[in-house]
Amino acid sequence: MRTENLIDGGWRGADSGRMFEVTDPATDQPLASVPSCGTTETRMAIEAAARALPGWRARTAMDRGAILRRLAELMIGAQDRLAALMTAEQGKPLAESKGEIAYAAAFVDWAAEEGKRVYGETVPASHADKRILVLRQPVGVTAAITPWNFPAAMITRKLGPALAAGCTMIVKPAEQTPLTALALAELCVEAGVPPGVVNVITGDAKAIGEELLANPTVRKLSFTGSTEVGRILMRNAAQNLTRLSLELGGHAPFLVFADADLDRAVQGLMAAKFRNMGQTCICANRVFVEAPVHDEFCARLEEAVAGLRIGRGDEAGVQVGPLIDDDAIAKVERHVADAAAKGAVVRAGGARARIEGLADRFYLPTILAGCTAAMAVCREETFGPVVPLIRFDDEADAIARANDSPFGLAAYFYTRDASRLMRVAEALEYGIVGANDGAPSTAQAPFGGVKHSGFGREGGRYVMHEYLDVKYVSWAL
Ligand code: SIN
Repeated sequence: MRTENLIDGGWRGADSGRMFEVTDPATDQPLASVPSCGTTETRMAIEAAARALPGWRARTAMDRGAILRRLAELMIGAQDRLAALMTAEQGKPLAESKGEIAYAAAFVDWAAEEGKRVYGETVPASHADKRILVLRQPVGVTAAITPWNFPAAMITRKLGPALAAGCTMIVKPAEQTPLTALALAELCVEAGVPPGVVNVITGDAKAIGEELLANPTVRKLSFTGSTEVGRILMRNAAQNLTRLSLELGGHAPFLVFADADLDRAVQGLMAAKFRNMGQTCICANRVFVEAPVHDEFCARLEEAVAGLRIGRGDEAGVQVGPLIDDDAIAKVERHVADAAAKGAVVRAGGARARIEGLADRFYLPTILAGCTAAMAVCREETFGPVVPLIRFDDEADAIARANDSPFGLAAYFYTRDASRLMRVAEALEYGIVGANDGAPSTAQAPFGGVKHSGFGREGGRYVMHEYLDVKYVSWAL
Protein backbone atom coordinates (compact mmCIF):
# COMPACT_ATOMS: atom_id res chain seq x y z
CA MET A 1 0.00 0.00 0.00
CA ARG A 2 1.46 3.38 -1.03
CA THR A 3 1.39 5.89 1.84
CA GLU A 4 3.88 8.62 0.87
CA ASN A 5 2.90 11.68 -1.19
CA LEU A 6 3.84 12.12 -4.84
CA ILE A 7 5.65 15.40 -5.45
CA ASP A 8 7.77 16.06 -8.53
CA GLY A 9 7.87 12.37 -9.39
CA GLY A 10 9.26 11.38 -5.96
CA TRP A 11 7.61 9.74 -2.98
CA ARG A 12 7.98 11.72 0.23
CA GLY A 13 6.55 12.54 3.63
CA ALA A 14 5.73 15.83 5.34
CA ASP A 15 8.71 18.06 6.20
CA SER A 16 7.54 18.04 9.81
CA GLY A 17 7.41 14.24 9.82
CA ARG A 18 3.79 14.47 10.98
CA MET A 19 1.36 11.77 9.90
CA PHE A 20 -2.33 11.07 10.34
CA GLU A 21 -4.16 7.80 10.60
CA VAL A 22 -6.64 6.38 8.11
CA THR A 23 -9.21 4.03 9.62
CA ASP A 24 -11.85 1.60 8.39
CA PRO A 25 -15.26 3.19 9.13
CA ALA A 26 -16.83 -0.28 9.52
CA THR A 27 -14.47 -1.41 12.27
CA ASP A 28 -12.48 1.63 13.45
CA GLN A 29 -9.35 -0.43 12.74
CA PRO A 30 -6.34 1.64 11.61
CA LEU A 31 -5.38 0.94 8.00
CA ALA A 32 -2.29 3.13 7.52
CA SER A 33 -0.74 6.50 8.34
CA VAL A 34 -0.12 9.11 5.65
CA PRO A 35 1.80 12.42 5.66
CA SER A 36 0.15 15.44 7.20
CA CYS A 37 1.35 18.06 4.72
CA GLY A 38 0.67 21.79 4.77
CA THR A 39 1.83 25.01 3.14
CA THR A 40 5.48 24.03 2.53
CA GLU A 41 4.71 20.81 0.67
CA THR A 42 1.90 22.50 -1.27
CA ARG A 43 4.37 25.12 -2.52
CA MET A 44 6.78 22.37 -3.53
CA ALA A 45 4.01 20.60 -5.45
CA ILE A 46 2.98 23.85 -7.16
CA GLU A 47 6.57 24.58 -8.17
CA ALA A 48 6.95 21.03 -9.51
CA ALA A 49 3.73 21.38 -11.50
CA ALA A 50 4.95 24.71 -12.92
CA ARG A 51 8.30 23.21 -13.97
CA ALA A 52 6.59 20.26 -15.63
CA LEU A 53 4.07 22.43 -17.50
CA PRO A 54 6.08 23.55 -20.58
CA GLY A 55 7.13 20.00 -21.45
CA TRP A 56 3.67 18.49 -20.92
CA ARG A 57 1.86 21.28 -22.75
CA ALA A 58 4.24 20.92 -25.71
CA ARG A 59 3.41 17.25 -26.24
CA THR A 60 0.81 16.32 -28.80
CA ALA A 61 -2.69 15.46 -27.68
CA MET A 62 -2.08 11.99 -29.13
CA ASP A 63 0.96 11.51 -26.88
CA ARG A 64 -0.92 12.65 -23.79
CA GLY A 65 -3.91 10.54 -24.79
CA ALA A 66 -1.75 7.41 -25.08
CA ILE A 67 -0.48 7.90 -21.51
CA LEU A 68 -4.01 8.49 -20.25
CA ARG A 69 -5.32 5.41 -22.03
CA ARG A 70 -2.56 3.40 -20.41
CA LEU A 71 -3.60 4.82 -17.04
CA ALA A 72 -7.22 3.77 -17.63
CA GLU A 73 -6.06 0.26 -18.58
CA LEU A 74 -3.90 0.01 -15.47
CA MET A 75 -6.87 1.05 -13.35
CA ILE A 76 -9.04 -1.66 -14.85
CA GLY A 77 -6.20 -4.16 -14.42
CA ALA A 78 -5.98 -3.20 -10.73
CA GLN A 79 -9.76 -2.96 -10.27
CA ASP A 80 -10.05 -5.61 -7.53
CA ARG A 81 -7.11 -4.29 -5.53
CA LEU A 82 -8.25 -0.64 -5.81
CA ALA A 83 -11.83 -1.58 -4.94
CA ALA A 84 -10.73 -3.47 -1.83
CA LEU A 85 -8.71 -0.45 -0.72
CA MET A 86 -11.63 1.87 -1.37
CA THR A 87 -14.08 -0.26 0.60
CA ALA A 88 -11.61 -0.49 3.48
CA GLU A 89 -11.18 3.27 3.83
CA GLN A 90 -14.60 4.45 2.68
CA GLY A 91 -16.98 1.65 3.65
CA LYS A 92 -19.03 1.31 0.45
CA PRO A 93 -19.95 -2.23 -0.64
CA LEU A 94 -17.29 -3.94 -2.72
CA ALA A 95 -19.50 -4.20 -5.81
CA GLU A 96 -19.98 -0.41 -5.70
CA SER A 97 -16.24 0.14 -5.27
CA LYS A 98 -15.55 -2.01 -8.34
CA GLY A 99 -18.18 -0.02 -10.21
CA GLU A 100 -16.54 3.19 -9.11
CA ILE A 101 -13.12 2.11 -10.40
CA ALA A 102 -14.68 1.37 -13.81
CA TYR A 103 -16.50 4.73 -13.66
CA ALA A 104 -13.24 6.49 -12.69
CA ALA A 105 -11.28 4.82 -15.49
CA ALA A 106 -13.99 5.82 -17.99
CA PHE A 107 -13.32 9.53 -17.24
CA VAL A 108 -9.62 9.04 -18.02
CA ASP A 109 -10.35 7.08 -21.17
CA TRP A 110 -12.92 9.63 -22.33
CA ALA A 111 -10.55 12.54 -21.71
CA ALA A 112 -7.76 10.77 -23.61
CA GLU A 113 -9.97 10.91 -26.70
CA GLU A 114 -11.53 14.34 -26.10
CA GLY A 115 -8.07 15.89 -25.82
CA LYS A 116 -7.63 15.13 -29.53
CA ARG A 117 -10.71 17.16 -30.39
CA VAL A 118 -9.79 20.50 -28.85
CA TYR A 119 -10.54 22.42 -32.01
CA GLY A 120 -9.88 26.08 -32.66
CA GLU A 121 -11.83 28.29 -35.06
CA THR A 122 -11.43 30.89 -37.76
CA VAL A 123 -13.91 33.76 -37.64
CA PRO A 124 -14.77 35.99 -40.63
CA ALA A 125 -13.12 39.36 -40.01
CA SER A 126 -14.67 42.77 -40.73
CA HIS A 127 -11.70 43.88 -42.88
CA ALA A 128 -10.61 42.13 -46.07
CA ASP A 129 -6.99 42.21 -44.98
CA LYS A 130 -7.55 40.62 -41.58
CA ARG A 131 -7.98 37.08 -40.32
CA ILE A 132 -9.22 36.06 -36.87
CA LEU A 133 -8.01 32.79 -35.38
CA VAL A 134 -9.42 31.40 -32.14
CA LEU A 135 -7.01 29.19 -30.16
CA ARG A 136 -7.78 27.04 -27.15
CA GLN A 137 -4.83 26.57 -24.86
CA PRO A 138 -4.25 24.77 -21.53
CA VAL A 139 -5.05 26.88 -18.46
CA GLY A 140 -1.70 25.96 -16.87
CA VAL A 141 -1.11 24.67 -13.34
CA THR A 142 -4.37 23.38 -11.89
CA ALA A 143 -5.50 21.88 -8.60
CA ALA A 144 -8.23 19.50 -7.42
CA ILE A 145 -9.71 19.15 -3.96
CA THR A 146 -11.76 15.97 -3.80
CA PRO A 147 -14.23 14.36 -1.39
CA TRP A 148 -14.34 11.02 0.43
CA ASN A 149 -17.59 9.69 -1.04
CA PHE A 150 -16.06 8.82 -4.43
CA PRO A 151 -12.35 8.46 -3.66
CA ALA A 152 -11.34 7.61 -7.25
CA ALA A 153 -13.93 9.01 -9.67
CA MET A 154 -13.92 12.55 -8.27
CA ILE A 155 -10.16 12.66 -8.87
CA THR A 156 -10.11 11.21 -12.37
CA ARG A 157 -12.90 13.36 -13.70
CA LYS A 158 -10.73 16.37 -12.94
CA LEU A 159 -7.30 14.87 -13.56
CA GLY A 160 -8.17 13.14 -16.87
CA PRO A 161 -9.34 16.24 -18.73
CA ALA A 162 -6.74 18.51 -17.10
CA LEU A 163 -3.93 16.29 -18.34
CA ALA A 164 -5.57 15.73 -21.73
CA ALA A 165 -5.79 19.51 -22.21
CA GLY A 166 -2.06 19.91 -21.41
CA CYS A 167 -2.38 21.18 -17.83
CA THR A 168 -0.49 19.88 -14.80
CA MET A 169 -2.21 19.22 -11.48
CA ILE A 170 -1.94 19.09 -7.70
CA VAL A 171 -4.51 16.77 -6.12
CA LYS A 172 -5.56 17.08 -2.48
CA PRO A 173 -7.76 14.08 -1.57
CA ALA A 174 -10.06 13.95 1.47
CA GLU A 175 -8.42 13.04 4.78
CA GLN A 176 -10.73 10.02 5.15
CA THR A 177 -9.74 8.43 1.82
CA PRO A 178 -6.15 9.25 0.83
CA LEU A 179 -5.12 5.65 0.14
CA THR A 180 -7.12 5.26 -3.07
CA ALA A 181 -5.72 8.61 -4.26
CA LEU A 182 -2.13 7.53 -3.56
CA ALA A 183 -2.74 4.20 -5.32
CA LEU A 184 -3.96 6.18 -8.36
CA ALA A 185 -0.86 8.36 -8.15
CA GLU A 186 1.27 5.22 -8.31
CA LEU A 187 -0.58 4.11 -11.44
CA CYS A 188 0.00 7.54 -13.00
CA VAL A 189 3.74 7.02 -12.57
CA GLU A 190 3.48 3.49 -14.00
CA ALA A 191 1.50 4.80 -16.98
CA GLY A 192 4.34 7.18 -17.84
CA VAL A 193 3.03 10.51 -16.53
CA PRO A 194 6.24 12.61 -16.26
CA PRO A 195 7.47 13.95 -12.88
CA GLY A 196 5.58 17.00 -11.64
CA VAL A 197 2.64 16.60 -14.04
CA VAL A 198 0.59 14.96 -11.28
CA ASN A 199 1.28 15.65 -7.60
CA VAL A 200 -0.80 14.21 -4.76
CA ILE A 201 -0.57 15.73 -1.30
CA THR A 202 -2.42 14.64 1.83
CA GLY A 203 -2.96 16.57 5.02
CA ASP A 204 -4.31 19.80 6.42
CA ALA A 205 -7.22 20.80 4.15
CA LYS A 206 -7.22 24.42 5.32
CA ALA A 207 -3.50 25.04 4.89
CA ILE A 208 -3.33 23.25 1.54
CA GLY A 209 -6.50 24.90 0.19
CA GLU A 210 -5.35 28.35 1.29
CA GLU A 211 -1.97 27.98 -0.39
CA LEU A 212 -3.52 26.66 -3.61
CA LEU A 213 -5.56 29.84 -3.88
CA ALA A 214 -3.03 32.32 -2.47
CA ASN A 215 -0.40 31.15 -4.95
CA PRO A 216 -0.73 32.95 -8.30
CA THR A 217 0.89 30.03 -10.16
CA VAL A 218 -2.29 27.98 -9.72
CA ARG A 219 -4.66 29.13 -12.46
CA LYS A 220 -7.58 26.83 -11.82
CA LEU A 221 -9.09 24.87 -8.93
CA SER A 222 -11.77 22.22 -9.24
CA PHE A 223 -13.58 21.25 -6.06
CA THR A 224 -16.21 18.67 -5.20
CA GLY A 225 -17.67 18.97 -1.72
CA SER A 226 -20.03 21.00 0.43
CA THR A 227 -21.59 24.33 -0.53
CA GLU A 228 -20.20 25.77 2.70
CA VAL A 229 -16.59 24.98 1.72
CA GLY A 230 -17.31 26.02 -1.87
CA ARG A 231 -18.18 29.50 -0.62
CA ILE A 232 -14.90 29.76 1.32
CA LEU A 233 -12.93 28.66 -1.74
CA MET A 234 -14.75 31.18 -3.90
CA ARG A 235 -13.89 33.99 -1.48
CA ASN A 236 -10.24 32.89 -1.41
CA ALA A 237 -10.15 32.55 -5.21
CA ALA A 238 -10.81 36.28 -5.44
CA GLN A 239 -7.19 36.98 -4.44
CA ASN A 240 -5.75 35.74 -7.74
CA LEU A 241 -9.00 35.46 -9.66
CA THR A 242 -8.31 31.74 -9.84
CA ARG A 243 -10.76 29.97 -12.14
CA LEU A 244 -13.08 27.58 -10.31
CA SER A 245 -15.27 24.58 -10.99
CA LEU A 246 -17.50 23.84 -8.01
CA GLU A 247 -19.56 20.68 -7.70
CA LEU A 248 -21.34 21.28 -4.42
CA GLY A 249 -24.22 19.94 -2.36
CA GLY A 250 -27.56 18.79 -3.69
CA HIS A 251 -31.06 18.02 -2.51
CA ALA A 252 -32.51 15.96 -5.32
CA PRO A 253 -36.27 15.71 -5.76
CA PHE A 254 -37.60 12.41 -7.10
CA LEU A 255 -41.09 12.65 -8.64
CA VAL A 256 -43.35 9.67 -9.27
CA PHE A 257 -46.38 10.50 -11.41
CA ALA A 258 -49.51 8.38 -11.31
CA ASP A 259 -48.85 7.18 -14.87
CA ALA A 260 -45.36 5.87 -14.03
CA ASP A 261 -44.25 2.26 -14.19
CA LEU A 262 -44.14 1.85 -10.40
CA ASP A 263 -41.73 -1.09 -10.37
CA ARG A 264 -39.25 0.86 -12.49
CA ALA A 265 -39.72 3.89 -10.26
CA VAL A 266 -39.00 1.82 -7.12
CA GLN A 267 -35.94 0.32 -8.79
CA GLY A 268 -34.73 3.78 -9.83
CA LEU A 269 -35.26 5.15 -6.35
CA MET A 270 -33.34 2.28 -4.77
CA ALA A 271 -30.40 3.10 -7.07
CA ALA A 272 -30.63 6.85 -6.56
CA LYS A 273 -31.11 6.67 -2.80
CA PHE A 274 -29.06 3.78 -1.44
CA ARG A 275 -25.91 4.10 -3.57
CA ASN A 276 -23.05 4.59 -1.13
CA MET A 277 -25.55 4.47 1.78
CA GLY A 278 -27.13 7.70 0.56
CA GLN A 279 -23.81 9.54 0.69
CA THR A 280 -23.81 11.08 -2.78
CA CYS A 281 -24.54 14.64 -3.86
CA ILE A 282 -27.12 13.36 -6.35
CA CYS A 283 -29.03 11.13 -3.90
CA ALA A 284 -32.82 11.41 -3.96
CA ASN A 285 -33.64 13.53 -0.89
CA ARG A 286 -37.32 14.32 -1.35
CA VAL A 287 -39.59 11.74 -2.94
CA PHE A 288 -42.84 13.24 -4.24
CA VAL A 289 -45.50 10.68 -5.14
CA GLU A 290 -48.79 11.56 -6.85
CA ALA A 291 -51.74 10.87 -4.54
CA PRO A 292 -53.49 8.04 -6.47
CA VAL A 293 -50.35 5.82 -6.43
CA HIS A 294 -48.81 6.98 -3.17
CA ASP A 295 -49.83 4.05 -0.97
CA GLU A 296 -49.07 1.41 -3.59
CA PHE A 297 -45.65 2.96 -4.28
CA CYS A 298 -44.90 3.08 -0.57
CA ALA A 299 -45.84 -0.60 -0.13
CA ARG A 300 -43.60 -1.68 -3.04
CA LEU A 301 -40.76 0.48 -1.72
CA GLU A 302 -41.08 -1.07 1.75
CA GLU A 303 -40.74 -4.50 0.20
CA ALA A 304 -37.61 -3.50 -1.73
CA VAL A 305 -36.03 -1.85 1.32
CA ALA A 306 -36.71 -4.92 3.46
CA GLY A 307 -34.55 -6.92 1.03
CA LEU A 308 -31.44 -4.75 1.51
CA ARG A 309 -28.53 -6.45 3.24
CA ILE A 310 -26.56 -4.33 5.70
CA GLY A 311 -23.03 -5.05 6.95
CA ARG A 312 -19.32 -4.61 6.22
CA GLY A 313 -18.73 -3.51 2.65
CA ASP A 314 -16.33 -6.38 1.98
CA GLU A 315 -18.88 -9.08 2.91
CA ALA A 316 -20.48 -10.83 -0.05
CA GLY A 317 -23.98 -9.60 -0.87
CA VAL A 318 -23.89 -6.51 1.36
CA GLN A 319 -25.64 -3.48 -0.20
CA VAL A 320 -25.57 -1.04 2.73
CA GLY A 321 -22.31 -0.40 4.60
CA PRO A 322 -21.34 1.99 7.41
CA LEU A 323 -21.63 5.75 7.26
CA ILE A 324 -18.32 7.56 6.98
CA ASP A 325 -18.03 8.86 10.56
CA ASP A 326 -19.82 9.63 13.80
CA ASP A 327 -20.96 13.09 12.67
CA ALA A 328 -22.59 11.52 9.62
CA ILE A 329 -24.70 9.10 11.65
CA ALA A 330 -25.55 11.80 14.19
CA LYS A 331 -26.91 13.97 11.35
CA VAL A 332 -29.08 11.13 10.04
CA GLU A 333 -30.45 10.56 13.55
CA ARG A 334 -31.17 14.28 13.94
CA HIS A 335 -33.08 14.38 10.64
CA VAL A 336 -35.16 11.30 11.45
CA ALA A 337 -35.96 12.53 14.98
CA ASP A 338 -36.92 15.98 13.69
CA ALA A 339 -39.19 14.48 11.01
CA ALA A 340 -40.86 12.12 13.50
CA ALA A 341 -41.39 14.99 15.96
CA LYS A 342 -43.07 17.01 13.19
CA GLY A 343 -45.47 14.21 12.23
CA ALA A 344 -43.66 11.89 9.80
CA VAL A 345 -44.46 8.20 10.12
CA VAL A 346 -41.49 5.80 10.17
CA ARG A 347 -42.47 3.04 7.71
CA ALA A 348 -39.10 1.25 7.80
CA GLY A 349 -35.86 1.55 9.77
CA GLY A 350 -35.59 4.73 11.78
CA ALA A 351 -32.72 3.55 14.01
CA ARG A 352 -29.10 2.48 14.07
CA ALA A 353 -28.29 -1.09 13.10
CA ARG A 354 -26.05 -2.48 15.83
CA ILE A 355 -23.86 -5.20 14.39
CA GLU A 356 -21.81 -7.41 16.68
CA GLY A 357 -18.09 -6.65 16.46
CA LEU A 358 -18.51 -3.62 14.16
CA ALA A 359 -18.39 0.13 14.74
CA ASP A 360 -21.65 1.79 15.80
CA ARG A 361 -21.95 3.56 12.45
CA PHE A 362 -24.61 1.61 10.56
CA TYR A 363 -28.08 3.03 9.99
CA LEU A 364 -31.09 1.01 8.89
CA PRO A 365 -32.51 1.90 5.47
CA THR A 366 -35.37 4.17 6.45
CA ILE A 367 -38.67 5.29 4.94
CA LEU A 368 -40.49 8.32 6.36
CA ALA A 369 -44.04 8.90 5.14
CA GLY A 370 -45.96 12.17 5.42
CA CYS A 371 -42.96 14.47 5.21
CA THR A 372 -43.32 18.22 4.78
CA ALA A 373 -41.10 21.13 3.81
CA ALA A 374 -40.91 22.13 7.48
CA MET A 375 -38.71 19.12 8.25
CA ALA A 376 -34.89 19.30 8.16
CA VAL A 377 -34.84 16.15 6.02
CA CYS A 378 -36.67 18.09 3.28
CA ARG A 379 -34.34 21.08 3.37
CA GLU A 380 -30.82 19.91 4.29
CA GLU A 381 -28.73 17.21 2.63
CA THR A 382 -29.13 14.11 4.87
CA PHE A 383 -26.27 12.12 3.30
CA GLY A 384 -27.71 8.90 4.68
CA PRO A 385 -30.09 6.03 3.83
CA VAL A 386 -33.36 7.87 4.47
CA VAL A 387 -36.29 8.22 2.03
CA PRO A 388 -38.71 11.07 2.89
CA LEU A 389 -42.05 10.57 1.10
CA ILE A 390 -44.31 13.50 0.23
CA ARG A 391 -47.76 13.22 -1.41
CA PHE A 392 -48.63 15.60 -4.28
CA ASP A 393 -51.80 16.37 -6.24
CA ASP A 394 -50.80 17.70 -9.67
CA GLU A 395 -47.87 18.31 -11.98
CA ALA A 396 -47.56 22.06 -11.43
CA ASP A 397 -47.59 21.59 -7.67
CA ALA A 398 -44.93 18.85 -7.89
CA ILE A 399 -42.63 20.97 -10.06
CA ALA A 400 -43.00 24.02 -7.83
CA ARG A 401 -42.16 21.98 -4.74
CA ALA A 402 -39.29 20.18 -6.47
CA ASN A 403 -37.78 23.55 -7.45
CA ASP A 404 -38.27 25.01 -3.98
CA SER A 405 -34.67 24.45 -2.94
CA PRO A 406 -31.51 26.52 -3.04
CA PHE A 407 -29.78 23.47 -4.56
CA GLY A 408 -29.87 22.50 -8.24
CA LEU A 409 -27.71 19.44 -8.86
CA ALA A 410 -29.86 16.41 -9.77
CA ALA A 411 -33.57 15.69 -10.08
CA TYR A 412 -35.45 12.56 -11.11
CA PHE A 413 -38.95 11.80 -12.31
CA TYR A 414 -40.93 8.83 -13.56
CA THR A 415 -43.77 9.02 -16.08
CA ARG A 416 -44.98 7.14 -19.16
CA ASP A 417 -46.37 10.30 -20.81
CA ALA A 418 -43.94 11.57 -23.48
CA SER A 419 -45.28 15.14 -23.47
CA ARG A 420 -45.03 15.34 -19.72
CA LEU A 421 -41.52 13.92 -19.91
CA MET A 422 -40.26 16.86 -21.99
CA ARG A 423 -42.31 19.43 -20.06
CA VAL A 424 -41.06 18.32 -16.65
CA ALA A 425 -37.45 17.84 -17.80
CA GLU A 426 -37.44 21.45 -19.03
CA ALA A 427 -39.15 22.84 -15.94
CA LEU A 428 -36.85 21.30 -13.34
CA GLU A 429 -34.17 23.80 -12.24
CA TYR A 430 -31.37 21.25 -11.99
CA GLY A 431 -28.18 20.51 -13.92
CA ILE A 432 -28.91 16.77 -14.19
CA VAL A 433 -32.32 15.22 -14.78
CA GLY A 434 -32.97 11.48 -14.65
CA ALA A 435 -36.14 10.91 -16.71
CA ASN A 436 -37.21 7.34 -15.86
CA ASP A 437 -33.55 6.91 -14.87
CA GLY A 438 -32.27 6.59 -11.31
CA ALA A 439 -28.60 6.30 -12.32
CA PRO A 440 -27.79 9.08 -14.80
CA SER A 441 -24.04 9.42 -14.05
CA THR A 442 -21.69 8.58 -16.89
CA ALA A 443 -18.39 9.86 -18.26
CA GLN A 444 -19.97 11.03 -21.55
CA ALA A 445 -22.40 13.47 -19.92
CA PRO A 446 -21.79 16.96 -18.47
CA PHE A 447 -22.21 16.43 -14.70
CA GLY A 448 -22.78 19.59 -12.65
CA GLY A 449 -25.30 21.87 -11.03
CA VAL A 450 -26.94 25.26 -10.88
CA LYS A 451 -27.82 27.59 -7.97
CA HIS A 452 -26.10 26.60 -4.70
CA SER A 453 -24.92 23.34 -6.25
CA GLY A 454 -22.15 25.25 -8.01
CA PHE A 455 -20.96 25.66 -11.58
CA GLY A 456 -18.72 24.01 -14.14
CA ARG A 457 -19.27 20.65 -15.81
CA GLU A 458 -17.39 17.37 -15.50
CA GLY A 459 -17.63 14.69 -18.17
CA GLY A 460 -18.61 14.79 -21.80
CA ARG A 461 -16.99 17.22 -24.21
CA TYR A 462 -17.99 20.08 -21.91
CA VAL A 463 -15.33 19.22 -19.32
CA MET A 464 -12.53 20.23 -21.67
CA HIS A 465 -13.64 23.89 -21.46
CA GLU A 466 -12.84 23.82 -17.74
CA TYR A 467 -9.13 23.33 -18.45
CA LEU A 468 -8.73 25.52 -21.54
CA ASP A 469 -8.36 29.25 -22.09
CA VAL A 470 -9.66 30.87 -25.25
CA LYS A 471 -7.35 33.24 -27.09
CA TYR A 472 -7.92 34.98 -30.40
CA VAL A 473 -5.31 36.18 -32.82
CA SER A 474 -6.29 39.12 -34.98
CA TRP A 475 -3.96 38.85 -37.93
CA ALA A 476 -3.52 41.85 -40.26
CA LEU A 477 -2.16 40.48 -43.54
C1 SIN B 1 -21.22 13.01 -6.14
O1 SIN B 1 -21.93 12.55 -5.30
O2 SIN B 1 -20.69 14.10 -5.96
C2 SIN B 1 -20.92 12.31 -7.44
C3 SIN B 1 -21.92 11.33 -7.86
C4 SIN B 1 -21.70 10.78 -9.25
O3 SIN B 1 -20.72 11.09 -9.92
O4 SIN B 1 -22.56 10.03 -9.69
